[in-house]
Amino acid sequence: MDDDAVVANNLAGLLRAARQVISNNQALINDPNIGDKGLTGRVVLRQSLDLYKKTSAIDPETVDPATRVGKLLHAQMDAIIEATDANQATINAKGVGFKAFIPAVFARLVNEAFATRAKEIAQIKVTAPEQLVRNRKARPDEWEADVIRNKLLQADWPRGQAYSATVSTNGRGAFRMMMPEYYANSCLSCHGSPQGQMDITGYPKEGGKEGDLGAVISITLFK
Ligand code: HEC
Repeated sequence: MDDDAVVANNLAGLLRAARQVISNNQALINDPNIGDKGLTGRVVLRQSLDLYKKTSAIDPETVDPATRVGKLLHAQMDAIIEATDANQATINAKGVGFKAFIPAVFARLVNEAFATRAKEIAQIKVTAPEQLVRNRKARPDEWEADVIRNKLLQADWPRGQAYSATVSTNGRGAFRMMMPEYYANSCLSCHGSPQGQMDITGYPKEGGKEGDLGAVISITLFK
């Protein structure tokens, strides 16, 4: 259970579930007629765990918090609560439609809150091929850029297959795993065509197509 790849898969899985919850609730979040939406950190975590447990063998709520995977999942659960609770004013703003509280922003905030709790042990980041990156904080580091270019973007790379390796990073040994994700049709209103046209969030669209490598969840577990 404390196997590196298992731990990395579980952290990625809970992040994906939390992001999905924010996606599922976009219509509610962007409803200008409702003030208090009841979408607190606890509620978002509850919905995330319900989704996550459908696919995972590890239950974050009952896993021993003294184990590495337990410690990290607890840090991630706390981060989900923090990132949601810190944005209640945005979520509950009456009279505002689109609030830009979207899955990608939420995932970044969760990962930042996770870092304040666990960055000596692990790092969770969502990155992408360099030319697609919007937020500079998401830029791939040298190792990530190399894996994206020479593995995940290669025509013969098996679709959806993660790449992992044990490498030295910031002077420390680390297990690192890169999990590819591809644009779905729902991504293209912002990341699609025409390239350069502003999307609803004020960023120029990237000209992406359905099925393109659009995101990579990058997990680092320090030795
Ligand atoms: C409503 C517009 C919108 C939609 C729809 C959308 N994104 Fe994004 N995406 C953004 C914005 C804005 C950011 C910058 C977030 C931030 O501030 O960190 C972003 C950031 C990202 C990032 C992080 C790297 C970066 O560029 O900063 C990835 C990866 C990503 N999006 C992939 C996707 C995928 C995959 C989908 C579909 C499942 C999707 N996005 C749907 C607007 C959108």
